[in-house]
Amino acid sequence: MTHVSIKNLTKTYSGTNDPALNNLSLEIQTGELIALLGPSGCGKTTTMKMIAGLLKPSTGDIKFNGRSILNDKPEHRGVVMVFQNYLLFPYMNVEENIGFGLKMRKVGPIEIKRRVAEMLKLVRLPNLADRKPSELSGGQQQRVALARALIVQPDVLLLDEPLSNLDAHLRIEMRDLIRSLQKEMGITTIFVTHDQEEAVVLADRVALILNGEMRQYDTPEAFYKRPVDEATARFFGGRNFIRGNALEQKFVGTFGILVIPDGANQGDVHLTIRPENIHLNKSDNTPNCLQAIVVDKVYLGTQTRLKIRIGDEHLEALANPTEVENIEIGNKVTATLPADALWMLTP
Ligand SMILES: Nc1ncnc2c1ncn2[C@@H]1O[C@H](COP(=O)(O)OP(=O)(O)O)[C@@H](O)[C@H]1O
Ligand SMILES: [Mg+2]
Repeated sequence: MTHVSIKNLTKTYSGTNDPALNNLSLEIQTGELIALLGPSGCGKTTTMKMIAGLLKPSTGDIKFNGRSILNDKPEHRGVVMVFQNYLLFPYMNVEENIGFGLKMRKVGPIEIKRRVAEMLKLVRLPNLADRKPSELSGGQQQRVALARALIVQPDVLLLDEPLSNLDAHLRIEMRDLIRSLQKEMGITTIFVTHDQEEAVVLADRVALILNGEMRQYDTPEAFYKRPVDEATARFFGGRNFIRGNALEQKFVGTFGILVIPDGANQGDVHLTIRPENIHLNKSDNTPNCLQAIVVDKVYLGTQTRLKIRIGDEHLEALANPTEVENIEIGNKVTATLPADALWMLTP
């Protein structure tokens, strides 16, 4: 049962000028699974290594249940880290790999055998106890790495891009397994990923890091509905940004006036709307219907992407393929931008 508090954590590697991680502050509730999300090189592994005790912060503090752990040795922190490349012991079989942490903690052999068997069942790897890592598939190796981490019942579990070496199908399976085991065991978990979808599906809350700085720490839903800035919105698939002026409940753009929600940012703003929230040819006397021209249409399988022009603005819309079957490139359409789907960003 561990609450993690990270305060103003900064790391500048020796011989470099810019910090790899700059002033990160993060509260993680007991039993919560958060995702540390960001592109390659943004400082995710650096953060994990500092929590695990493999790297010393330049400044800042990390507390578990209110107590700083910076002077604790890695093995005394109650933290286990699982790496992208699994790092299994090649000369040990599956059973020995999974039981290793318990052996180090001087647990008796009979108890180890019992708990390893239990763990093998949990990660759905029965009948493989005698295999060596080289005799396992990537997905199986990842399950062993996960079992080896979970068996010691860590206070804090760190997963550093654990699924990125797996193919798409296995990734989804492992993602669901991690989620259910984490919830069952209630271990405070930090899951590192560069994949926005993975973060959204897995995490209670997501911390987006760009260039060593945290932009937003929020529920997955908030990143879609209330991104803090354009870079954040773009990272989550946002495509539409319209310059204009917001005054009370009106947005004035080059193409006309839109009704916007109460409490929206005022003044010089970028109006944003997610592609899936623009409706085409569905006007039924609602406000915010605009005349548009279809300039592109691409079938994506489960959705169709349309590019439309409204005045001088180009916008992207995503629709159910059957709903836009009869719309062709060059057609005039009515685009509805529902007021409650509009969000004002200060540029
Ligand atoms: N040992 C190191 N010495 C100097 N720079 C490093 C070292 N390790 C990582 N970096 C740099 O720090 C930045 C963040 O790296 P990292 O935390 O590994 O990013 P991520 O895990 O998000 O891909 C990168 O620019 C990387 O090149
Ligand atoms: Mg990394």
